[in-house]
Amino acid sequence: LKTLVRECTQAAINFYGSYCSIENLHATQNIHGENQKALDLIADEIFTDALLKTKLCACISSEEREEAIISDGQYSVCFDPLDGSSIIEANFATGSIFGVYNAQTPIGLTPSQQVSSFYYIYGPNLVFVVSNGKKTFTAKYSENDFEFYQNAPLENQGVLAPANLQAWFANGIQDRLGAFLAQGLNMRYSGGLVADVHMLISKSGGLFVRPRLSNVKPKLRLVYECGPLAYIIESLGGMSSNMQASILQQKITNLHQTTDFMVGSKDLVETWNSYENR
Ligand code: F6P
Repeated sequence: LKTLVRECTQAAINFYGSYCSIENLHATQNIHGENQKALDLIADEIFTDALLKTKLCACISSEEREEAIISDGQYSVCFDPLDGSSIIEANFATGSIFGVYNAQTPIGLTPSQQVSSFYYIYGPNLVFVVSNGKKTFTAKYSENDFEFYQNAPLENQGVLAPANLQAWFANGIQDRLGAFLAQGLNMRYSGGLVADVHMLISKSGGLFVRPRLSNVKPKLRLVYECGPLAYIIESLGGMSSNMQASILQQKITNLHQTTDFMVGSKDLVETWNSYENR
């Protein structure tokens, strides 16, 4: 497992080094019909090559590819090579997210069965966060090295990341914004999931929640985005939810399945649930 994480981390360093060229931006479409930038494809290739090189993967599945790559190995790796591609032009932080299962396929499992999840953030610094489900460590890349520290459990404070704000108003739940702000939370939202969830960790707490209009399908992906991030947040004593149960308990039936998503400090997720149950 260490070899696998080390190879991905070297790939992230390589990718971060080639990140800044605006010529890498051009539009095609991915299987979800979203505009896909060449940078997404570059990230996908770099990480796929790194994972193949380890010869440790039975299944490599990427958000950017319809079919998983099946090979001989011990692990299944599900990854989003470049999350937040719609905010690249604005020079906001983007990232790459990974979930690892000690299994031939993640299908039929739940994200609680990940043996590790980790992400990289491409911002003013390259930041690496890795968890084994019990402990989570953050590291900043500087002078060709990572300095690690263990993250503290999340507290009942921090920031509010209110995704899909249109749905808050359309669903008539906008007064919750005021209630959370009155509780002392400050709003921090960039539209890049990795950085927005990392904000909760770096501020020692908070809530990311994405309400949805009932006639629109959920947007975020279970195995590529929500599962790995929920695994990290729950390792820090936080909670995750698909608005019914923990994200970690949701059965994986399809590599590209989407889900409703909320993560954050335990008390804040419970506060949200108490509003829902009123
Ligand atoms: O999944 C892609 C993504 O760009 C995430 O990084 C981000 O959290 C989300 O979409 C933003 O979309 P919305 O504003 O619709 O919640």
